[in-house]
Amino acid sequence: MDAPNKQFALAGSLEELKAKGRLVVHGSHRPILVIYDRGRVFALDNRCPHMGFPLERGSVEDGILTCHWHHARFDLESGCTFDLWADDVPICPVEVRDGDVWVKTTFSHADPAAHWRERLADGLAHDLGLVAAKAVHGQLAADVPRADIVRQVALFGAQNRDGWGVGLTILTALANLLPMLPEEEAYLALFHGARRVAADCDGEAPRRERAPLGSQPDPAALKRWLRRWTHVRHREAAERTLLTAIAGGLSPAVLADALLAAETERAFADTGHSLDFINKAFECLDLIGWEHAPAVLPTIVGQMVAARGAEESTAWRQPVDLVALCEEAANQLPQVFAAGRGVRGWSHHAALARELLGDDPARIVDALKAAIRAGAAPADLSRSLAYAAALRVARFGNANEHADWETAHHVFTYANAVDQMLKRIGTANPDGHVAAVRGVLHGAMALYLTRYLNVPPARIPGEGGEQLDDLPTDAEMIRTALLDAFDRQRQVDLAARLVARHLSLGHSPQALIATLARALLREDAGFHAYQMLEAGVRQSAAWGDTDEGRHILIAVARYLAAHSPTERAALQTADIARRLMRGGELHQEAGAS
Ligand code: FES
Repeated sequence: MDAPNKQFALAGSLEELKAKGRLVVHGSHRPILVIYDRGRVFALDNRCPHMGFPLERGSVEDGILTCHWHHARFDLESGCTFDLWADDVPICPVEVRDGDVWVKTTFSHADPAAHWRERLADGLAHDLGLVAAKAVHGQLAADVPRADIVRQVALFGAQNRDGWGVGLTILTALANLLPMLPEEEAYLALFHGARRVAADCDGEAPRRERAPLGSQPDPAALKRWLRRWTHVRHREAAERTLLTAIAGGLSPAVLADALLAAETERAFADTGHSLDFINKAFECLDLIGWEHAPAVLPTIVGQMVAARGAEESTAWRQPVDLVALCEEAANQLPQVFAAGRGVRGWSHHAALARELLGDDPARIVDALKAAIRAGAAPADLSRSLAYAAALRVARFGNANEHADWETAHHVFTYANAVDQMLKRIGTANPDGHVAAVRGVLHGAMALYLTRYLNVPPARIPGEGGEQLDDLPTDAEMIRTALLDAFDRQRQVDLAARLVARHLSLGHSPQALIATLARALLREDAGFHAYQMLEAGVRQSAAWGDTDEGRHILIAVARYLAAHSPTERAALQTADIARRLMRGGELHQEAGAS
């Protein structure tokens, strides 16, 4: 007889299937297992959806197929799993005609984008990394825009946890990098974002929605109230005030100004994380659409009002009262800005950064005030601060304790967040942004307190006439050597030299950034590493092809090298998912053994 149509393949005769119990058809895309059980014929992907073990080697009992590797169990008829961590096994149509068994050799979904969106929802809801990885891969293969995947994950994270978390920060940081990532790294970035958001939400109570006020106070009142409620740690009041500001249609710039003013009621709160999270929530909305502001933006309020400020720590009070120094300077800021108003063309960012790295806090504050009088805008100050903080990392002495990498990192990512927020605020409220500039003062003091991390300073490669001629000249070879360096522990200086070599020879910064992203995305990286890469890429881009831009990427490479390699377990999950999604056989040899 003829095949039912070209997509069907002959598995064998029904008699043969009855005698053997199971047959395997080697379709073009994946092997198919045909099973006879209690008078019915079933066809499934022969590769276990968990890790690809051949299901032909499993057992069938009472309509349940059990994989013999990790013992995941599946409903034979639907392919649905009883063990969520293993995922469902795809099934395919099977027909018996004139005593022969025919199976359709292709697996497809009527609406692949909708199917994989639903699977991603399942993976997020149950914190199933493998399911999330397949769903991300499936959506990308179905040409779902990357931003749509980010939106799905972000909204899940905002709704299923009582507050912004590290997962949403990682998702946003990686989503910011997506435009410069090749296909494979984009898949890994979205997978890491999804799995970390799912992990954050696992076992957490969902977020409880709150409503805006019934009135529409003016923006200045809302800003004052936000500061007041933050000061007295009144979360509900702060959330309702913020929701009212959003409902009133205030622009992202005005909202940023109000939130930065409230956040800086405390100095360097929660070691900078609180402000960084606020900035990331704004960036998240840039990515997924500001119509989601009521769902996303209030998630940062809980941490903001609860955060412990540096004014409660001894180091900020003695031997120099840095908090008092900041408060005095903040009170002077209106006059200082007035003195600089109308002055144009200030561009001494690098020189100011060097002054910020000084060892006298009063002089550091004076340098900031002098820059403002000379015409520096708030975002000029924060750009200098971010570069100075990157230099702290670039010159981090290897004799420091390993945990101190995080001390240096905190200041840098805080400074980057202040910079992004001040750039966003721009001139939205020139008279009111004085409060927000307190973030620069606090960042400068945090930077001052970390000066011991550069004693003695590590040398930046290429400085002082250092030759790098022992390193390759070919761009591809340098990047390969860089990845090799990340394969070994304590290759901080080698990684820095390779980055310096790549950039000083004029090779593509984009290709280097993709390599750094590759190095990060294959690791079971900590939350700080994602922040470091993204902040470094953003800050180096602001400087372009300059020594300063190179120094920032050297800082990134040094930090990443200090935290590599790891177990790379998440990469293994992503790799298994990709191989299962692409077809072909896995573990066939293991199954035969
Ligand atoms: S349960 Fe089948 S491969 Fe793990």
